[in-house]
Amino acid sequence: MKAMVLKSPGGVENLILEDIPVPTIKDDEVLVKIKAISVNPVDATLRRNGDFLRLVLHLKKDENPVLLGWDISGVVEQTGSAVTRLRKGDEVFGMVNFTGHGKAYAEYVAAREDHVALKPSSVTHAEAAAATLAALTAWQTLVHLSGVKAGDKVLVHSAAGGVGHYAVQIARHLGAYVIGTSSAVNKDFVLGLGADEHIDYSKQRFEEWVNDADVVVDSVVEKDHLERSLQALKRKGKLISLVVFPDERLSRLALMSRKFLYRMEVGSDGADMQAIAELLGKGHLRSHISRTFSFHEIPLAHKELETGHTRGKIVIMM
Ligand SMILES: NC(=O)c1ccc[n+]([C@@H]2O[C@H](COP(=O)([O-])OP(=O)(O)OC[C@H]3O[C@@H](n4cnc5c(N)ncnc54)[C@H](OP(=O)(O)O)[C@@H]3O)[C@@H](O)[C@H]2O)c1
Repeated sequence: MKAMVLKSPGGVENLILEDIPVPTIKDDEVLVKIKAISVNPVDATLRRNGDFLRLVLHLKKDENPVLLGWDISGVVEQTGSAVTRLRKGDEVFGMVNFTGHGKAYAEYVAAREDHVALKPSSVTHAEAAAATLAALTAWQTLVHLSGVKAGDKVLVHSAAGGVGHYAVQIARHLGAYVIGTSSAVNKDFVLGLGADEHIDYSKQRFEEWVNDADVVVDSVVEKDHLERSLQALKRKGKLISLVVFPDERLSRLALMSRKFLYRMEVGSDGADMQAIAELLGKGHLRSHISRTFSFHEIPLAHKELETGHTRGKIVIMM
């Protein structure tokens, strides 16, 4: 099968199209013929950073070949002997084996049955592949970590991005009052997702506008951003950091101001995928795909990701 192999950590030129064997499945796995893959900022980060790559993929010494990617939508071709729910021909989507060596940059992937859900027939493979790592992050952040409920005020940073555009829709679906930050160019997009208010981060300091949020979802890598997000929270509010590991000073600050500060780590979870499938199927959640690339263009997709200004998701079509 064709696969986009990472020959060694570094630039996009290290992503090389190769022919490798189709994976063999374990008892609890299904073999999925991939129709669409989505890419995330973490793909590019791991491609560049060997230490981080080994840590996140749980790589053994000299493991070969190394494949990035976790987010897939496709068709089940084979089922392991312990698989009970899925059958050959089922259309499935999910985030395969994150953290771990997902190996999704390929024609076929071996996926644990409990990492994927049935794709709703009303959504395309591209839309389903998009709604995996990013949508799971938004779901696990808002539902499991924050417990967002109707009437809560939720501030979503990077509201126009992969995670953010799902977070705005999910928070809204949970009945929250949603404020999204982005640049001016994405204002209408963010409001169109269902946000009640928009803040243009290039013109306004969000913490001067919001100081009573119940939940803030922070995915901005900028000095002091997390501390500013803490100021946007009310007492007992929850700040979820997607990118920065809070240091001791910030954790103490949160404690002293009686606010909660968590670091989020998304994880593969079939029940959460099922919840996302239901939202997609009912039209409560939609994937916005700003650009699609073909498989051999994955290096170009990485370059686009690295601009940091993607609207919605980037998807690779097989
Ligand atoms: N910890 C976890 O489990 C986890 C899971 C998923 C993602 N992440 C991390 O979360 C971050 C976001 O992921 P993603 O997939 O959403 O990325 P993404 O799609 O690349 O985000 C791009 C968006 O960020 C917006 N943006 C850039 N600077 C901003 C700022 N200062 N304020 C507000 N918005 C800003 C851009 O809007 P404009 O173009 O309008 O500027 C753009 O729409 C990444 O660093 C990713 O690695 C962590």
